[in-house]
Amino acid sequence: MSSEPLKESAYQSAGKDFKAFAASLREKLVIWLKPEHLEELRPQLQYQTYILAGFALVASILLGFADLATKNAIQHRLEEDLKSNLEEVVPAELYDNNLLLDTLTLQSASANLGSAQTVFYLAKKEGQVNAVSFKFVAPDGYAGPINLVMGLDRNGEILGVRVISHMETPGLGDKIEIKKSPWILSFNGKSLDNVTYEEWSVKKDGGIFDQFSGATITPRKVVLAIKRGLEFYKAHREELMNPVHGSTSSQ
Ligand SMILES: Cc1cc2nc3c(=O)[nH]c(=O)nc-3n(C[C@H](O)[C@H](O)[C@H](O)COP(=O)(O)O)c2cc1C
Repeated sequence: MSSEPLKESAYQSAGKDFKAFAASLREKLVIWLKPEHLEELRPQLQYQTYILAGFALVASILLGFADLATKNAIQHRLEEDLKSNLEEVVPAELYDNNLLLDTLTLQSASANLGSAQTVFYLAKKEGQVNAVSFKFVAPDGYAGPINLVMGLDRNGEILGVRVISHMETPGLGDKIEIKKSPWILSFNGKSLDNVTYEEWSVKKDGGIFDQFSGATITPRKVVLAIKRGLEFYKAHREELMNPVHGSTSSQ
């Protein structure tokens, strides 16, 4: 014998119970909301409490629905933003995978990259890692943290760097943005191998990167953060280039 009829009757009985409960609740509510009953209740403290609780309940339910309705849209938007950031620093011809799904997370608490863990997005073609990209932070900009994204090829050469967000002063520190000046492009092709340790600074400090007139702090901090990013990549190059498998985490 199949268990289907049994299942059906269980569902039916649960449905009947629920309907009965809803009907009795409705009945009570109708009685409770009768004008003469409300008149009677109005002077009582309970009445105000119930009204307040009712409004709070309705507001919470509405908020819950609004949260549910917007959660997916926000998540989708964040992913789109991240994807477009990564696409700016890794040329499309270098990969045929989904960068957002092929990641390796490394512990970076002591690397001063702005977070305890850094997610590397692996750009793979036919299964081989051709490049990586990652977000990191210059925590000590003039006006606050500067959020960056950088793409590196297998040899640790910079494919691109972009400023994602910052609080630097318009007209002074904001020339780190590609929209304001081409300064950030001066990192393309640079690596720890073709620029010496001392040269990884702004010109004012003996390096090769331009500062801005009247604003040295911002570019200095960005150059130093990029250098730290390159050093971190170098220290983990092997595991990034030959990951054991996709989305994984490593010490
Ligand atoms: C209101 C104000 C805003 C500033 N904003 C920045 C900034 O965003 N980035 C920056 O590097 N310097 C900024 N500066 C200038 C710095 O205080 C500092 O003088 C400069 O970075 C040093 O560069 P210099 O050695 O080329 O003069 C600002 C100065 C003032 C008065």
